[in-house]
Amino acid sequence: MLYIGIDLGTSATKFLLVDEAGEVRNTVTKEYPLSFPQPGWSEQAPADWWTACLEGIPELLRGFDPSEVCGIGLGGQMHGLVALDKDDQVLRPAILWNDGRTAKQVDYLNETIGRETLSKYTANIAFAGFTAPKLLWMRENEPELFARIEKIMLPKDYIVYCLTGVHATDYSDASGMLLLDVEHKCWSKEMCEICGVQEHWLAKLHESWQAVGPLKPEAAKALGLPENVPVCAGAGDNAAAAVGTGTVGAGGCNISLGTSGTIFISSDKFGVDPNNALHAFAHADGGYHLMGCMLSAASCNKWWCEDILKTDDYPAEQADITPEKLGRNHVFFLPYLMGERSPINDTNARGAFIGMTMDTSRADLVQAVLEGVSFAIRDSFEVAKSLGVSIPRSNICGGGSKSPLWKTILANVLGIPLDIVKTEQGPGYGAAILAMVSCGDYPTVEAACKALVSVKDTVEPDPELTARYEARYQQFRQIYPACKSLFPNLL
Ligand code: XUL
Repeated sequence: MLYIGIDLGTSATKFLLVDEAGEVRNTVTKEYPLSFPQPGWSEQAPADWWTACLEGIPELLRGFDPSEVCGIGLGGQMHGLVALDKDDQVLRPAILWNDGRTAKQVDYLNETIGRETLSKYTANIAFAGFTAPKLLWMRENEPELFARIEKIMLPKDYIVYCLTGVHATDYSDASGMLLLDVEHKCWSKEMCEICGVQEHWLAKLHESWQAVGPLKPEAAKALGLPENVPVCAGAGDNAAAAVGTGTVGAGGCNISLGTSGTIFISSDKFGVDPNNALHAFAHADGGYHLMGCMLSAASCNKWWCEDILKTDDYPAEQADITPEKLGRNHVFFLPYLMGERSPINDTNARGAFIGMTMDTSRADLVQAVLEGVSFAIRDSFEVAKSLGVSIPRSNICGGGSKSPLWKTILANVLGIPLDIVKTEQGPGYGAAILAMVSCGDYPTVEAACKALVSVKDTVEPDPELTARYEARYQQFRQIYPACKSLFPNLL
């Protein structure tokens, strides 16, 4: 028996073929462009995601018997707005999770409607990347397109729609729209009214492991799969990654160093951060989670190495960062290349290097980037701790976690051990696990994780290095407040 896990990411979609023992039998990655039509804007063509599936799935199945495929699950980049007209045509490019154009609409929601009211309706306040402010932006800036909306969906739900013809979503991903009453797991009528959303635009809600339908005949034919393969609702990529690393039930933590950087704390109970700095969302295991999300994590390193230093040899760039240099860098980097979400919620924030001297080397700047991202993750980690959440250790996944150096820096910046699971694919693996639960192979997501996910390695913090990083973190914390008022003038 085989399962397909699809991770619809921001730079690429990753396809995983997993067998019933949980072994990854094949992987395929299909990249696509991301466009930044204006500073701080971020868009993608939904057609590119579907093309990735049309190319990626047949390639994934090459050398395997497609009739053995029993289920498909998806994890996807969250919050993106895909709007369709009455003929199911995409009305405009999807506005993505890291798009910052909605500052005005966010202010309207948080200040005029009010944080308390939003939190009462949805368990969250407005952030620029969330879906609801994007709808307000469209209503204000593209009224003729807004008037033609018949369906709205999240990125992975667009692919589920292409696969099955069913307009469905799951609670974890729907949580990030600011239209869901997260606690009661239903659409918030009040929020829909505030945002001009008609009920029939919205998808039917499911738990992540629930089947939404079989493949449409034409999709099955195009992908080289049997027609009856069921597709489950899937999850937002962070919830899917948490499943993939076994971060389920009460008290688990997963850190993802992907394009975004997230800290994800799973819980079996609903709970809200009273200051709403952390998101309060539903989890793909049927429970809930708190999450801090920074908008540029591994993407800062990618930008610095590939766009600026013109190299993709990351290990070579990190080779000169020897152990004695750790915790001693006098250069700091603010990783706010797309503005920032958690915890500072500032679309105007920008990246910065500070502290260079004539003896600053290229390696010091590379190190500053890795450290700046780690310090910014710590900012959300501190918020969680201030709520009384205990985080004695964490799983880690995402592209950035391939770097042993980065894991060492992060373990010491946070002062906790970081566990690396055997199957490191994160969201794609979690999506395949959801497909297995959907097919009845396991009674619950937690039971599936218990059977399939195991830790293969742990990076332990070193007390001396943790102390050095503590001092550096206290310096880092002073830089953003000192620059904050400058950023709006730099636009
Ligand atoms: C989470 C978030 C990002 C995207 C990345 O709130 O916006 O982690 O899901 O794909």
